Amino acid sequence: MTVEIGPQAAARAAEESITIEVTRYDPDSDDELRTQSYEVPLRKDWTVLDGLNHVKDTIDPTLSYRWSCRMGVCGSCGMNVQGQPSLSCGTFLSDFAPGPVRVEPLANFPVIRDLVVDIGDFMEKLSKVKPWIIRDDVDVHAGEFLQTPAELDAYSQFSSCINCMLCYSACPVYGLDPDFTGPAAIALAERYNLDSRDHGARERLDVLIEREGLWGCTFVGECTRVCPKHVDPASAIQRYKLKAAQESIRAVLLPRGAG
Ligand code: SF4
Ligand code: FES
Repeated sequence: MTVEIGPQAAARAAEESITIEVTRYDPDSDDELRTQSYEVPLRKDWTVLDGLNHVKDTIDPTLSYRWSCRMGVCGSCGMNVQGQPSLSCGTFLSDFAPGPVRVEPLANFPVIRDLVVDIGDFMEKLSKVKPWIIRDDVDVHAGEFLQTPAELDAYSQFSSCINCMLCYSACPVYGLDPDFTGPAAIALAERYNLDSRDHGARERLDVLIEREGLWGCTFVGECTRVCPKHVDPASAIQRYKLKAAQESIRAVLLPRGAG
Protein backbone atom coordinates (compact mmCIF):
# COMPACT_ATOMS: atom_id res chain seq x y z
CA MET A 1 0.00 0.00 0.00
CA THR A 2 1.31 3.49 -0.90
CA VAL A 3 0.97 6.26 1.67
CA GLU A 4 1.11 9.78 0.26
CA ILE A 5 2.84 12.47 2.28
CA GLY A 6 3.76 16.10 1.65
CA PRO A 7 1.88 19.28 0.74
CA GLN A 8 0.37 17.89 -2.48
CA ALA A 9 -1.12 14.93 -0.66
CA ALA A 10 -2.47 17.24 2.03
CA ALA A 11 -4.04 19.43 -0.66
CA ARG A 12 -5.65 16.42 -2.28
CA ALA A 13 -7.00 15.24 1.06
CA ALA A 14 -8.50 18.65 1.69
CA GLU A 15 -9.97 18.85 -1.81
CA GLU A 16 -13.59 19.79 -1.93
CA SER A 17 -16.00 17.30 -3.36
CA ILE A 18 -19.51 17.32 -4.75
CA THR A 19 -22.14 14.61 -4.87
CA ILE A 20 -23.50 13.55 -8.22
CA GLU A 21 -26.73 11.57 -8.20
CA VAL A 22 -26.64 9.42 -11.28
CA THR A 23 -29.46 7.41 -12.84
CA ARG A 24 -28.59 3.73 -13.07
CA TYR A 25 -30.38 1.05 -15.01
CA ASP A 26 -29.24 -2.44 -15.89
CA PRO A 27 -31.81 -4.10 -18.15
CA ASP A 28 -30.71 -7.53 -16.89
CA SER A 29 -31.35 -6.85 -13.21
CA ASP A 30 -33.39 -3.65 -12.75
CA ASP A 31 -37.14 -3.35 -13.17
CA GLU A 32 -36.93 0.41 -13.13
CA LEU A 33 -34.48 3.30 -13.09
CA ARG A 34 -32.72 3.90 -9.79
CA THR A 35 -30.34 6.54 -8.47
CA GLN A 36 -26.81 6.07 -7.20
CA SER A 37 -24.75 8.78 -5.51
CA TYR A 38 -21.03 9.33 -5.94
CA GLU A 39 -18.63 11.83 -4.42
CA VAL A 40 -16.34 13.38 -7.01
CA PRO A 41 -13.71 16.13 -6.70
CA LEU A 42 -15.09 19.62 -7.12
CA ARG A 43 -12.49 21.28 -9.33
CA LYS A 44 -13.04 24.58 -11.05
CA ASP A 45 -12.34 23.22 -14.51
CA TRP A 46 -14.22 19.93 -14.13
CA THR A 47 -17.32 19.33 -16.17
CA VAL A 48 -20.08 16.85 -15.39
CA LEU A 49 -18.42 14.55 -17.92
CA ASP A 50 -15.13 14.78 -15.97
CA GLY A 51 -17.06 13.77 -12.85
CA LEU A 52 -18.57 10.76 -14.63
CA ASN A 53 -15.18 9.76 -16.03
CA HIS A 54 -13.77 9.97 -12.50
CA VAL A 55 -16.51 7.62 -11.28
CA LYS A 56 -15.90 5.18 -14.13
CA ASP A 57 -12.10 5.24 -13.77
CA THR A 58 -11.82 5.06 -9.99
CA ILE A 59 -15.11 4.02 -8.37
CA ASP A 60 -17.47 2.08 -10.61
CA PRO A 61 -16.38 0.86 -14.05
CA THR A 62 -19.88 -0.39 -14.86
CA LEU A 63 -21.30 3.13 -15.25
CA SER A 64 -22.44 3.59 -18.87
CA TYR A 65 -22.77 6.85 -20.82
CA ARG A 66 -21.78 8.21 -24.21
CA TRP A 67 -19.09 10.74 -24.98
CA SER A 68 -16.31 11.25 -27.48
CA CYS A 69 -14.86 14.69 -28.26
CA ARG A 70 -15.06 16.46 -24.87
CA MET A 71 -15.37 19.76 -26.69
CA GLY A 72 -19.00 20.25 -27.72
CA VAL A 73 -18.52 18.94 -31.24
CA CYS A 74 -19.61 15.29 -31.47
CA GLY A 75 -23.01 15.73 -29.79
CA SER A 76 -22.86 12.37 -28.03
CA CYS A 77 -22.72 13.41 -24.36
CA GLY A 78 -26.23 14.87 -23.96
CA MET A 79 -27.89 14.23 -20.58
CA ASN A 80 -30.27 15.91 -18.22
CA VAL A 81 -28.20 17.81 -15.67
CA GLN A 82 -30.23 19.22 -12.79
CA GLY A 83 -33.32 18.71 -14.94
CA GLN A 84 -31.98 20.57 -17.99
CA PRO A 85 -30.95 18.92 -21.26
CA SER A 86 -27.21 19.68 -21.43
CA LEU A 87 -23.95 18.63 -23.00
CA SER A 88 -22.16 17.05 -20.07
CA CYS A 89 -18.78 18.08 -21.52
CA GLY A 90 -19.84 21.74 -21.48
CA THR A 91 -21.56 21.86 -18.09
CA PHE A 92 -19.38 22.65 -15.08
CA LEU A 93 -19.82 20.92 -11.74
CA SER A 94 -18.91 24.15 -9.93
CA ASP A 95 -22.09 25.78 -11.29
CA PHE A 96 -24.04 23.45 -8.98
CA ALA A 97 -21.89 23.74 -5.84
CA PRO A 98 -22.35 22.73 -3.11
CA GLY A 99 -24.49 20.08 -4.82
CA PRO A 100 -25.85 17.53 -5.16
CA VAL A 101 -26.08 17.45 -8.96
CA ARG A 102 -28.69 15.24 -10.58
CA VAL A 103 -27.47 13.52 -13.77
CA GLU A 104 -30.17 11.66 -15.70
CA PRO A 105 -30.63 10.28 -19.20
CA LEU A 106 -32.16 12.60 -21.79
CA ALA A 107 -35.93 12.71 -21.32
CA ASN A 108 -38.30 11.51 -24.08
CA PHE A 109 -36.03 8.61 -25.16
CA PRO A 110 -36.07 4.97 -24.03
CA VAL A 111 -33.19 4.17 -21.68
CA ILE A 112 -30.92 1.31 -22.77
CA ARG A 113 -28.54 1.36 -19.79
CA ASP A 114 -27.71 4.00 -17.16
CA LEU A 115 -27.35 7.29 -19.11
CA VAL A 116 -27.42 5.70 -22.56
CA VAL A 117 -30.63 6.25 -24.52
CA ASP A 118 -31.96 4.67 -27.70
CA ILE A 119 -31.39 7.10 -30.58
CA GLY A 120 -33.07 4.93 -33.24
CA ASP A 121 -36.21 7.09 -33.58
CA PHE A 122 -34.11 10.24 -33.96
CA MET A 123 -31.93 8.69 -36.67
CA GLU A 124 -35.02 7.56 -38.57
CA LYS A 125 -36.48 11.06 -38.44
CA LEU A 126 -33.26 12.61 -39.64
CA SER A 127 -33.08 10.39 -42.71
CA LYS A 128 -36.80 10.88 -43.44
CA VAL A 129 -36.25 14.58 -44.23
CA LYS A 130 -33.57 13.71 -46.84
CA PRO A 131 -30.68 15.68 -45.34
CA TRP A 132 -28.51 15.71 -48.41
CA ILE A 133 -28.25 17.75 -51.58
CA ILE A 134 -30.85 16.62 -54.11
CA ARG A 135 -30.32 17.38 -57.80
CA ASP A 136 -31.46 15.60 -60.92
CA ASP A 137 -28.80 17.14 -63.14
CA VAL A 138 -25.66 15.88 -61.42
CA ASP A 139 -22.74 15.62 -63.76
CA VAL A 140 -19.71 14.53 -61.78
CA HIS A 141 -17.47 16.01 -64.47
CA ALA A 142 -19.07 19.43 -64.30
CA GLY A 143 -16.70 20.63 -61.57
CA GLU A 144 -17.53 22.26 -58.26
CA PHE A 145 -20.80 23.97 -57.41
CA LEU A 146 -19.41 27.24 -56.13
CA GLN A 147 -21.27 29.42 -53.62
CA THR A 148 -20.93 33.06 -52.66
CA PRO A 149 -20.39 33.95 -48.98
CA ALA A 150 -23.99 35.23 -48.92
CA GLU A 151 -25.29 31.89 -50.21
CA LEU A 152 -23.29 30.11 -47.52
CA ASP A 153 -24.60 32.50 -44.85
CA ALA A 154 -28.17 31.63 -45.82
CA TYR A 155 -27.93 28.12 -44.33
CA SER A 156 -24.83 28.11 -42.11
CA GLN A 157 -26.78 28.63 -38.88
CA PHE A 158 -28.83 25.47 -39.49
CA SER A 159 -25.72 23.53 -40.47
CA SER A 160 -24.23 23.98 -36.98
CA CYS A 161 -26.40 21.19 -35.56
CA ILE A 162 -24.36 18.45 -33.86
CA ASN A 163 -27.31 16.02 -33.50
CA CYS A 164 -27.09 16.09 -29.72
CA MET A 165 -30.88 15.60 -29.33
CA LEU A 166 -31.14 18.11 -26.48
CA CYS A 167 -33.96 19.83 -28.39
CA TYR A 168 -35.96 16.58 -28.56
CA SER A 169 -35.47 16.05 -24.86
CA ALA A 170 -36.72 19.57 -24.13
CA CYS A 171 -39.67 19.44 -26.55
CA PRO A 172 -43.00 18.82 -24.77
CA VAL A 173 -44.70 18.09 -28.11
CA TYR A 174 -42.25 15.28 -28.94
CA GLY A 175 -42.71 14.01 -25.39
CA LEU A 176 -46.46 13.66 -25.99
CA ASP A 177 -46.41 12.67 -29.65
CA PRO A 178 -43.36 10.64 -30.71
CA ASP A 179 -44.58 10.83 -34.34
CA PHE A 180 -43.73 14.55 -34.43
CA THR A 181 -40.71 14.96 -36.73
CA GLY A 182 -39.09 17.19 -34.14
CA PRO A 183 -36.82 20.24 -34.04
CA ALA A 184 -33.39 19.12 -35.28
CA ALA A 185 -34.72 17.13 -38.25
CA ILE A 186 -36.83 20.09 -39.40
CA ALA A 187 -33.88 22.46 -38.96
CA LEU A 188 -31.75 20.10 -41.00
CA ALA A 189 -34.36 19.98 -43.75
CA GLU A 190 -34.29 23.77 -43.81
CA ARG A 191 -30.49 23.73 -43.94
CA TYR A 192 -30.66 21.89 -47.30
CA ASN A 193 -33.62 23.89 -48.60
CA LEU A 194 -31.62 27.08 -48.14
CA ASP A 195 -28.58 25.65 -49.91
CA SER A 196 -28.24 27.25 -53.36
CA ARG A 197 -27.04 23.90 -54.79
CA ASP A 198 -30.13 21.98 -53.71
CA HIS A 199 -33.33 21.24 -55.64
CA GLY A 200 -35.03 19.02 -53.04
CA ALA A 201 -37.29 21.48 -51.18
CA ARG A 202 -40.46 20.06 -52.74
CA GLU A 203 -39.58 16.47 -51.75
CA ARG A 204 -38.87 17.51 -48.16
CA LEU A 205 -42.04 19.52 -47.95
CA ASP A 206 -44.03 16.47 -49.06
CA VAL A 207 -42.62 14.64 -46.02
CA LEU A 208 -43.08 17.46 -43.54
CA ILE A 209 -46.50 18.65 -44.65
CA GLU A 210 -48.03 15.46 -43.20
CA ARG A 211 -50.03 15.96 -40.02
CA GLU A 212 -47.29 14.83 -37.65
CA GLY A 213 -44.55 16.45 -39.75
CA LEU A 214 -44.56 19.93 -38.29
CA TRP A 215 -48.07 20.99 -37.34
CA GLY A 216 -47.74 19.51 -33.87
CA CYS A 217 -45.32 22.29 -32.89
CA THR A 218 -47.02 24.82 -30.65
CA PHE A 219 -43.97 27.10 -30.62
CA VAL A 220 -43.04 26.53 -27.00
CA GLY A 221 -39.48 27.45 -28.01
CA GLU A 222 -37.71 25.13 -25.54
CA CYS A 223 -35.76 23.58 -28.42
CA THR A 224 -34.12 26.90 -29.23
CA ARG A 225 -33.47 27.68 -25.56
CA VAL A 226 -31.51 24.50 -24.88
CA CYS A 227 -29.65 24.26 -28.19
CA PRO A 228 -25.91 24.54 -27.43
CA LYS A 229 -25.11 25.56 -31.02
CA HIS A 230 -27.67 28.37 -31.45
CA VAL A 231 -29.29 26.58 -34.36
CA ASP A 232 -32.71 28.03 -33.46
CA PRO A 233 -34.80 25.07 -34.63
CA ALA A 234 -37.99 26.87 -33.53
CA SER A 235 -37.49 29.45 -36.28
CA ALA A 236 -36.90 26.68 -38.86
CA ILE A 237 -40.24 25.13 -37.85
CA GLN A 238 -42.07 28.43 -38.17
CA ARG A 239 -40.53 29.06 -41.60
CA TYR A 240 -41.62 25.59 -42.67
CA LYS A 241 -45.14 26.13 -41.42
CA LEU A 242 -45.38 29.26 -43.54
CA LYS A 243 -44.14 27.36 -46.60
CA ALA A 244 -46.56 24.51 -45.93
CA ALA A 245 -49.48 26.94 -45.57
CA GLN A 246 -48.53 28.69 -48.83
CA GLU A 247 -48.28 25.31 -50.53
CA SER A 248 -51.71 24.27 -49.29
CA ILE A 249 -53.24 27.47 -50.70
CA ARG A 250 -51.39 26.92 -53.97
CA ALA A 251 -52.67 23.34 -54.16
CA VAL A 252 -56.26 24.58 -53.79
CA LEU A 253 -55.85 27.29 -56.41
CA LEU A 254 -53.71 25.39 -58.90
CA PRO A 255 -53.85 21.75 -59.96
CA ARG A 256 -50.67 19.79 -59.06
CA GLY A 257 -47.95 20.37 -61.61
CA ALA A 258 -49.36 23.66 -62.86
CA GLY A 259 -47.63 26.95 -62.16
S1 SF4 B 1 -30.79 21.67 -33.10
FE1 SF4 B 1 -29.39 22.16 -31.40
S2 SF4 B 1 -30.21 20.98 -29.66
FE2 SF4 B 1 -31.13 20.14 -31.50
S3 SF4 B 1 -29.82 18.39 -32.09
FE3 SF4 B 1 -29.08 20.21 -33.21
S4 SF4 B 1 -27.48 21.11 -31.93
FE4 SF4 B 1 -28.64 19.69 -30.63
S1 FES C 1 -18.29 14.75 -25.70
FE1 FES C 1 -18.64 15.50 -27.73
S2 FES C 1 -20.16 17.04 -27.44
FE2 FES C 1 -19.68 16.40 -25.44
